Amino acid sequence: MPVKFRSGENIPLEMHKARMVQRLNLLPVEERLKASQEAGNNTFLLKNSDVFLDMLTDSGVNAMSQAQYAAMMNADDSYAGSETFYRLEEALKEVFGTKYFLPCHQGRACENIICQTFIKPGQTAIMNYHFTTTKAHIMRNGGTVVEIIKKEGLEVKSELPFKGDLDIERLKNEIKTIGAEKIAFIRVEAGTNLVGGQPVSMANMREVAKIAKDAGILSIYDASLLADNLYFIKTRDKDFANTSLNQITLELGSLFDMAYFSARKLGCVRGGGIITNREDLYNAMISLVPLYEGFLTYGGMSVREMEALAVGLRETLDFHVIEQTPIFVEALAKELLASGISVVTPPGGLGCHVNAMSFCDHIPQSEYRAGALAIAAYIAGGFRGMERGTISEVRNADGSEHFAEMELLRLALPKRVFTLSQIKYVADRLTWLYENRHLIGGLRFTFEPEVLRFFFGRLEPVSDWPQKLAKKFREDFGDSL
Ligand SMILES: Cc1ncc(COP(=O)(O)O)c(C=O)c1O
Repeated sequence: MPVKFRSGENIPLEMHKARMVQRLNLLPVEERLKASQEAGNNTFLLKNSDVFLDMLTDSGVNAMSQAQYAAMMNADDSYAGSETFYRLEEALKEVFGTKYFLPCHQGRACENIICQTFIKPGQTAIMNYHFTTTKAHIMRNGGTVVEIIKKEGLEVKSELPFKGDLDIERLKNEIKTIGAEKIAFIRVEAGTNLVGGQPVSMANMREVAKIAKDAGILSIYDASLLADNLYFIKTRDKDFANTSLNQITLELGSLFDMAYFSARKLGCVRGGGIITNREDLYNAMISLVPLYEGFLTYGGMSVREMEALAVGLRETLDFHVIEQTPIFVEALAKELLASGISVVTPPGGLGCHVNAMSFCDHIPQSEYRAGALAIAAYIAGGFRGMERGTISEVRNADGSEHFAEMELLRLALPKRVFTLSQIKYVADRLTWLYENRHLIGGLRFTFEPEVLRFFFGRLEPVSDWPQKLAKKFREDFGDSL
């Protein structure tokens, strides 16, 4: 909860206390340099024991509440017909008002089932913006992705409160041009992941859902980042200031033909699921769940996680629970902006997104500005963020590089995990890095997987710039870590 200090400054006060902690390790810069080399200059390949603050993602690493841990003890361990499943189904009904639930082991597993069922080769999926695994599943099933996020969504700096909104005129035009029968579905990701954790407004979602319905096209809501989006609907849209969070989630549940989510994000556990009110859609997908996930009453999740998810979903309706990430993102963004560092604004959910396009404007985009900044930040501060730029893209059919519209270093803020002094430390080390940014150089692939290359691709620096960066750090900070 932001509170005003005597100085007039707004401070994002934590509305929880830590009752179980994990020890952290901050390696000396020379060891960070060595770890970055061993990890092929890819932050995904760092060992977590070599990382001080793990800001790679919020996926599966959010802090759980004591009520969630307590609920785990209640789990009913049975392969079929577990009581736990019915309790989780009930929680989903309460939150979204939906009748049918297909459990899956995580978000991309839902995408596998949805895409296998609803994408026919040659069809198109329209969406505000893709997520990496979503696009991969669509392409794997012979589909293509058309993105129609409003132009401000791809601009680093904007005043628009809902930068994740779909461009309605473009949506109508695409439906006309492509033809409704060639569109597998329209997907709304709210909040968005790859473009700065930006939210989508309720007005936009209402319009999109109506257009889809009128055109007879399936509408799908990716609710993985719902918690942040709820916060922004409540705080940035005055029409919802007095609407309860549950009223909003119930409306979302009724707007779209189906929704799916990664429970590694929504609900702060590890799992996922597809929900719908349409029996025909449920029946179309049902047989793939036992094939890929597990029986219909667990879908690859542990029953303990399912119990915790039921609690976590209800806790998503608690404003103090959902506000903590966005207010911390805002606090970090403010500190970086004050140092002259360009970040995505207005600050969104999920994490603070540093604009590597300008931070590293001396590096050619073909040498992966955001990837280079990610590994330089690890060397400078021991925290690891995630490249969300060209490395996260897919090459064009002719093998040429598909340059990302935004080159971002995402510093994720898992829910209720970090403290304000840790956030200030990140801002301090990034400011130092910004002052020394001329030392950062480019990267090139030494091993480039064909699918989702950002996960386990390996890269090398184009020169000995990481050594020079580490040396300068030692000169400037002396004995300090
Ligand atoms: C918007 C969105 N959709 C889908 C997924 C995939 O979920 P998972 O990582 O659980 O497979 C993610 C994960 O980050 C996401 O952010």
